[in-house]
Amino acid sequence: MIFNALKPKIGALISDSGSKDQILQSICELLKLEIPHYDWVGFYFKNGNKEELKLGPYAGTPTDHTIIPFGKGICGQVAVSNQNFVVPDVKAQDNYIACSISVRSEIVVPLFVDGQNIGQIDIDSNTPDAFTAKDERFLEFVCQSVATLL
Ligand code: SME
Repeated sequence: MIFNALKPKIGALISDSGSKDQILQSICELLKLEIPHYDWVGFYFKNGNKEELKLGPYAGTPTDHTIIPFGKGICGQVAVSNQNFVVPDVKAQDNYIACSISVRSEIVVPLFVDGQNIGQIDIDSNTPDAFTAKDERFLEFVCQSVATLL
């Protein structure tokens, strides 16, 4: 199982001496490279005191959506719900921000530090209905690991 093989690699990256952004960048690139259904991988973080998310490190096609207001799109909804959001078919979502026409499904998992939702990991897939509970558990592990850095 690819996820179990990746967990120690995530742990090793977290223990690296690089900057926080370099480590997050390496995690994005690792996940995009190793997991076939992960076509865009990025982190968004709460932008200071503003009720908006700001794009952090990512791997994949550049997106225009570097700032997302709370409540807007899948990401903005997770910023206020504090819940994982799995979207099997992005076309069926009213409150969705398209970054690329090739994207068919998406998963967003919130990142908590001291119980506060301070950001999230966002994955886009070009495969319809690509994500299962296994992705949720793995991405929760990634977010918990990253939280130790923040
Ligand atoms: N689709 C997201 C926007 C971010 S992009 O996927 C990179 C959303 O609806 O919030």
